[in-house]
Formats: sequence, structure tokens, C-alpha cells
Amino acid sequence: MFSVPLIYLVLVFIPQWKSVERLGATVVLFGDSYDETQAYAKQRGVDEGRVFVPPFDDPEVIAGQGTVGMEIVRQHPGPLHAIFVPVGGGGLIAGIAAYLKQVRPEVCCYGGVDDHV
Ligand SMILES: Cc1ncc(COP(=O)(O)O)c(C=O)c1O
Repeated sequence: MFSVPLIYLVLVFIPQWKSVERLGATVVLFGDSYDETQAYAKQRGVDEGRVFVPPFDDPEVIAGQGTVGMEIVRQHPGPLHAIFVPVGGGGLIAGIAAYLKQVRPEVCCYGGVDDHV
């Protein structure tokens, strides 16, 4: 499904990697902490001439995540009280909240963290 070769580097205890693998990515489980995984991914990008795409702390990634907010608002054109967003590093909620602030500032945006991860 991916049109570019993708290596998805993920912390060893994050279970969602199977979905990414099913879409055609090569999955590498590495590291016991986010910092360890990211450092390895960045270095591997340098070594292999690949682009390192940060998972959440990047303006373009956050802008892309904002399209989730756009989809929600388009699918719910009527009154909308709140949107609840799962939070890992914060990119998804940053993108959704930034979009909401522009187009539907009255909508509350709440984040929830999974304490099992
Ligand atoms: C299933 C799931 N949970 C949580 C998140 C939030 O991740 P983050 O806060 O690191 O952007 C995402 C991001 O896409 C996600 O797909």
C-alpha cells in the first residue's frame, strides 16, 4: 500500500505496529524509551539516506494531524460540544486543536493518556 519504502521504528512495547506492517511497511522494534528509539531512527536515516519523519513534534506532522479535526468537523456540521483525543506525544491533539481554534473555537478539545503505554 505504501508507494515509498517505509521503515517504521517503534518502541518495543507499542502494540500498534502490526497495523502498520499489514499496510506494507517494514517494522523494526527497537528501544525501551522514546528517546532511544528516536536516536536510532535518526541515525539509521543518516546511514541509509532516508528521511526521518518525527512521530509528533514537527509542524508538518501536526498540520497533517489537523486534517483529522477537519474530517470530524465536516462530518458533524451541527453543534459539537467536545472532541476527545488520545494523546501520545501530543501531535494529534495539537493538530486537531489548532484546526478547531480556527474554524470552531467554541468546541472543547480534551486529551486522554493511556497509562498502560
Ligand atoms: C491510535 C492513536 N493514539 C494516539 C495518537 C496520538 O499520538 P500523538 O499524541 O503522539 O500524536 C495517535 C496518533 O496518530 C493514534 O493514531
